[in-house]
This record gives sequence, C-alpha cells and structure tokens, in this order.
Amino acid sequence: MENDLQAIVAQAEACQAEVSSRSDWDQAKAAILGPKGTLTQASKLIGTLPREEKPAFGQALNKAKKQVEALFAMTLSNIEEKADLLALGQAYDPTLPAIPHRSGSLHPLTATRRKVVSTFRKLGFTVAEATEAETEWFCFDALNTPADHPARDEQDTLFFKPDSKWANVSKKGNEAHLLRTHTSSVQIRTMMCEKPPLRVIAPGRCFRRDTVDATHSANFHQLEGLCIDRNVTLLDLKGTLDYFLKETFGSKVQTRLRPSFFPFTEPSFEVDLKAPNLGKLSNKWIEIMGCGLVDPEVLNLVGLAENEWSGFAFGVGIERITMILHGIDDIRHFYQNDQRFLSQFTGPA
Ligand code: PHE
Repeated sequence: MENDLQAIVAQAEACQAEVSSRSDWDQAKAAILGPKGTLTQASKLIGTLPREEKPAFGQALNKAKKQVEALFAMTLSNIEEKADLLALGQAYDPTLPAIPHRSGSLHPLTATRRKVVSTFRKLGFTVAEATEAETEWFCFDALNTPADHPARDEQDTLFFKPDSKWANVSKKGNEAHLLRTHTSSVQIRTMMCEKPPLRVIAPGRCFRRDTVDATHSANFHQLEGLCIDRNVTLLDLKGTLDYFLKETFGSKVQTRLRPSFFPFTEPSFEVDLKAPNLGKLSNKWIEIMGCGLVDPEVLNLVGLAENEWSGFAFGVGIERITMILHGIDDIRHFYQNDQRFLSQFTGPA
C-alpha cells in the first residue's frame, strides 16, 4: 500500500509540468486531494487495516500529503507570478529603478600617494624602494641613531628573533631584523647604491608597536624624500616643501619650519601648515612632517665625502596628509574596507 502512496506522489510530480492556468491547477489538485481524489481514497483504506499496521500507514500517508501539498503550492505561486507579469503587459517593468552600476575607485591612501609622487616627479625626483624588513643598521645605526634611542626599544619596534641556524654559519645570521619603523632606511640604501647627485622619494609601509587607536596604527605609510647634491641649502629644502604643500593643500597654504630634532638631520625641523580650506582645521597651524639637512655624520657612514656633498631629507605620513585633506578623524577607517567610507572617494587620481 505504501507503494500506492509513492505512485500518487509521482502522479502529483508529473502533472505539475502540464499545469499552466489556475483552472488546470484546481482540476489537477482535486484529482489527488479532492473528496474523490486518489490520495483521499487511499486514506480511507486505513479503516480496513489490522490495528498494528495502522500507525505506520498513517505516517506514510501524512508524509505523502505534505509532499503533494508542497508541489501544488510551488506550482500555484509560479502560475500567479506569470499572471502578474502578463497583467502588467510585459515580462519586465521598465519603470523600475535600474540596478546600481558601481564602479571601483582608488583607495584614498593610494590616491594621495599617486598625487604626491606626481608632484615630486615634476621636481625631478624619482621613486626609490627598499625592503620593509630591515636590519638595525639600515634602520638606526646608519641614520646616526644611538643604541639607547627610544625608537630602538623592543617595546616600540617589531623585531624578528635572529635565526640561530644561520648564526652558526655566518656572523650575518646574528644581526637583528625588524620591520622598518620609518622610510628613512631607504635614504641609506639609496646613498649606498647610487652615485650623487640624486633626488628620490620613497613611499612605503612602516611598522611600529603602537596600540591601535584613532591616531595610531601598527602599520602605516610614509613618504621619504632625499636630495643629495653640491651646496644644498635650507632654502632648497623650504622651496621644495612649499611647492609640495601648495600642490597638495592648495595655493593659499602657509608653511613654517619649527626647530626640532632627528638624529640623522642637522638642523632638523617640524613643518607646520595653515590653510583656509581644511574644515575644522582651517586657519590653524597643524604639524605635517619632519625634515632637515642631512647630518654630515650620515654622509660619513655611507661613505660620501662631507666636504663635497650635502643634502636635505624629509618624511611625511600618507595617512596624515589624507586625514587632513578630507577631514577624516580616525585612522582605522583606512584599513576596515567599509564601502560606506571608501565610496566617498570616487574622484580620479
Ligand atoms: N623618519 C622621521 C619619522 O619617522 C621623519 C623624518 C624623515 C625626519 C626625514 C627628517 C628627515 O618621524
């Protein structure tokens, strides 16, 4: 008898394809589930069964009924959907809003990097790159940064353990490696590989052991600049930075150099800027970057004669420029890939 029930479910399945209107559907459904329908008739047989067979047959009957009802419900909703479209006069509604066409755009940090790089290209700077994992020598010693400088503290910098296997093989294996804390290491690598005069900028990732908050990130981006030539003066540095800051923040920007200290520049300065078009930061002095004339000790360390060569260097945060330009108040927005944030930066760059 359970075979009979399966045959009824198969009958219900088969007739779905033939049903194309509501009246067909009513008829087909009545032939199975109506008072004289095959399933209704089959259910009457339960009365003729011995008592012990009744529960199993009852269960099989319920299962078959559910399957048949689900098939008919699905077919009815298809029929109604088609009827609705026909009532509209066509198979689709051209007055509905179009599916949004979303095109991609550059990440705001990429857009800033490209703009700044193109500004410096106009001044004859080329792009230099170096490794993100550095030895202590390139990141600190060659930049005249003494062993007791706080930047070298294990608490501030991300160090790798020396590789003990290689330490046995060569002295080099013992050198401490770290993720560079600034792009200034590229100054050293450039001066050791290329002959002056030279002008380079080096955009890239930097790493510090910072606790992440609105203004700190363990991973961020800087752009380093280095110019080595004969008779380079502070005026060259100031003129270069004024041009860069005007191109980036608008022609009304004012700038000032404030004395500061970096181990690898002498004299050293912080650069502040003031501009009328920066939202909440308008017309206030804001610190933007560090700079200075290359310390003669650094020239000595890379083997350049200090009586022949001189230079300037600067470093600026790519996040910092972007935050000031667009009034962004939390550095974490840059790394969260939230479309609501990113889609605000759709302009060409
Ligand atoms: N490396 C410095 C920093 O990370 C910035 C800097 C670069 C200062 C070059 C002077 C010259 O803060």
